[in-house]
Amino acid sequence: MKPNSIPGRAFSLWALRHFLRPRLVALSGAALAMMGRAVVLLLVPWPLKFIVDSVIFHKPLPAWLAGLLPNPQTHSVALLTALGAAMLLLGVADAVLDYLGGRLLLRVGQHTIFDIRCALFAHLQRLSLGFHRRQNAGDLMARLGGDIQTLQDFVMSLGSGLFAHLLTVVGMASVMLIIDWRFALVVLAAAPLLLVVTQRYIQHLKKAFRQARYKEGQLWGMVQEVIAGIPVVQAYGREAYEDRRFRQRAQQSLGAGVWANQLQMGFTPLVGGLVATATGVATWYGAAQVLAGQITPGELLVFLAYLRGLASPVRQFAKMAGVTSKASVAAERIWEVFSQEPDIRDAPRALRPSSCRGGLEFRSVCFGYNPHELTLHDISLRIEAGQTIALVGATGAGKSTLVSLIPRFHDPLKGQVLLDGRDLRDLQLTFVRDQVALVLQEPLLFRGTLWENIAYGRAGAGYAEAVAAAKAVGIHELIQGLPDGYNTPVGERGVGLSGGQRQYVSIARAMLRNSPIVILDEPTSGLDALSERYVLGALKRLTKGRTTLVIAHRLATIAEADGIVVLDQGRIVQAGTHGQLLGQGGRYAELWHSSVRRPSSPAEVL
Ligand SMILES: Nc1ncnc2c1ncn2[C@@H]1O[C@H](COP(=O)(O)OP(=O)(O)O)[C@@H](O)[C@H]1O
Ligand SMILES: [Mg+2]
Repeated sequence: MKPNSIPGRAFSLWALRHFLRPRLVALSGAALAMMGRAVVLLLVPWPLKFIVDSVIFHKPLPAWLAGLLPNPQTHSVALLTALGAAMLLLGVADAVLDYLGGRLLLRVGQHTIFDIRCALFAHLQRLSLGFHRRQNAGDLMARLGGDIQTLQDFVMSLGSGLFAHLLTVVGMASVMLIIDWRFALVVLAAAPLLLVVTQRYIQHLKKAFRQARYKEGQLWGMVQEVIAGIPVVQAYGREAYEDRRFRQRAQQSLGAGVWANQLQMGFTPLVGGLVATATGVATWYGAAQVLAGQITPGELLVFLAYLRGLASPVRQFAKMAGVTSKASVAAERIWEVFSQEPDIRDAPRALRPSSCRGGLEFRSVCFGYNPHELTLHDISLRIEAGQTIALVGATGAGKSTLVSLIPRFHDPLKGQVLLDGRDLRDLQLTFVRDQVALVLQEPLLFRGTLWENIAYGRAGAGYAEAVAAAKAVGIHELIQGLPDGYNTPVGERGVGLSGGQRQYVSIARAMLRNSPIVILDEPTSGLDALSERYVLGALKRLTKGRTTLVIAHRLATIAEADGIVVLDQGRIVQAGTHGQLLGQGGRYAELWHSSVRRPSSPAEVL
């Protein structure tokens, strides 16, 4: 498979069938209307046949009709009126059934696509972090947007009566064979040729569209990256460079699209030509048959009408070949995402204990982002409920990786992580995650107000809970000091707030969660000394009485922790209290001396 595309299982449109199950009733209604319409389409040319043969040429009616309709020899005008009325009725029935079938089908189709889109989003959200790190976010958005739209277009084009026409094909072919099998074979000779041509074309088209969608996904990936990194792009003046990159990618996407459309444009005239040839031959042969007295002029009319009836779905299908191939490629891409299963899931009999004290233990844990390259080696570590443990070590030592095992963002390759003595993998994932609150270096905020961002910490929390949490961590006055207070609008990624303010919000959010375990991953790095003082005060209130894992760059902030663990290249190299470790010399003493020499170390400690 291509790089950056999700390996999917073999797919066909059929794979999406279970989305249709809840709509079986409406779907059956649509199918009935279309079958009804197919019968009507089959009957449409017959009144004309009898008008020509019986009203104009005075041929007697067949026995089964003779009892129903006026006698052509004596009452030709009455017969003409009856046949005219039949034509009118058939026309009306055709229109009504077409409307009903199309309407039902479109409704079902659009609702189904809506369901697929929601299911896709829900599925995406639950795929593991590992998947999202590998996957290009822009490409996923292209799937959720463009590919879903393509499926929708396909469904819309189905409403055009194609189904009913396809259903009539068999009926028309049978009737033609009964009237005159030789003539029927002449007319139908083009069919196998058409099938082969169509088959080949669809294959090429699908290949072209797959390529086009892939390029489009890459293009969106790039756009997403640039927009997310816009400060860097502008600060380094790389707009022109990104313009060129965009042009280049867009051109590839354009090229693939043009190729696909050229293929499609070639198909319609080819099919048109085939159909025209078949019609010409059939007309010539049919007229000759009439002259020879083999069939009546009325029967020739029926034949020609059916021929048009057959050509119409074929031509429509040729037009739809593009939409169909596109849709099948889109469905393929959507299915690729659905076929991904989250690596981290509940075990079949996962437990949900009624309470959690927050005791943690790592037992000989090994972990690597790829199995051949371990990031954590044989980590053993016990944290009693309510204790504060600090993790220190150089950048890249594996601190963030270690704490990411606690909310089960990843599972250990070897060993166990235990919560209150139970392996995390034996507990329900939602239970485990409910016990953990995270405060990260870069607080993630969503578009909305400040209080909404705090209330995000717990489902169902409202304004009052947000204020209570802010009070509990001691930032209520700070927030009230803002011009809009709790209603301060927060842009995407927290635009509009200072770094310290954003961190307050994420601390209050963690407080609202009220979970027994708190993880702080360098929450004060990147803050100025004054903000850091406030943030540290808030963190102190947040972590009081909770099991806390704190990762800190500035060691002055962690000297009071119950225990300090020093990580180096994924291994625990030292553990003990601040005093013990300083006395031992070694890695911690080195880190401490280089850290306290920094001028901005605040006096307050956690
Ligand atoms: N998502 C990831 N995929 C692959 N490697 C990663 C990923 N995250 C971190 N690493 C690697 O794991 C090692 C430890 O990283 P990390 O736990 O972030 O260190 P720390 O937090 O101590 O700075 C580093 O070598 C880093 O490159
Ligand atoms: Mg880190």
